[in-house]
Amino acid sequence: MRLFVAVLPPEHVVAELAGRVDDLKRLPDAGALRWTERAGWHLTLAFLGEVDDAVVADLGARLGRAAGRTAPFALALRGGGRFGDRALWAGVAGEVAALRLLAGRVSAAGRRAGAGPGVDAGRGFHPHLTLARGRGEVGLRPFVEGLGGFSGGGWGVGELVLVRSHLPRAGLQGARPRYEPLTAWPLHT
Ligand code: 2AM
Repeated sequence: MRLFVAVLPPEHVVAELAGRVDDLKRLPDAGALRWTERAGWHLTLAFLGEVDDAVVADLGARLGRAAGRTAPFALALRGGGRFGDRALWAGVAGEVAALRLLAGRVSAAGRRAGAGPGVDAGRGFHPHLTLARGRGEVGLRPFVEGLGGFSGGGWGVGELVLVRSHLPRAGLQGARPRYEPLTAWPLHT
């Protein structure tokens, strides 16, 4: 199954961001972007890709231990950015170093379980919450500017979540992946 590990923002944070995203959707060319569904909004700690069923129990045990070694920390969503003209995202503020530490532990847990290289293999860990994807034909700069002054309320990150990604069937126009949270482990020290 296709898996990733994430931090999920609480509903009040999601609702605040959704208000700003509604404004962005009124900008010219917004209709040409594929907007992510707010129900699936997340901060990826590690993308594991296809994981063997046989490995999932050991992976879970390792993720639980990684969570248990990490104290809860505070985050907020702030501003935005883009990966070229391919992805528009909301940025992260607060205890980002703690998020980075947790991402490293989660990636190591994945590697040791034999469940993929982790998100920081190759492209580095860049905390973000993806809001829309484009194919490069629409410039994302105005959308990043539209996120400029955005500063969401903070929250305490108290758990990490293993999420399954169900990809839409190939050829289904406009279909998006469905994300299914499988297990959450509490952070504590
Ligand atoms: P993205 O939002 O920047 O695309 C589920 O796909 C999550 O895992 C997304 O948040 C996605 O990041 C992230 N991810 C990281 N590497 C990925 C990859 N190689 N393929 C798909 N998703 C990846």
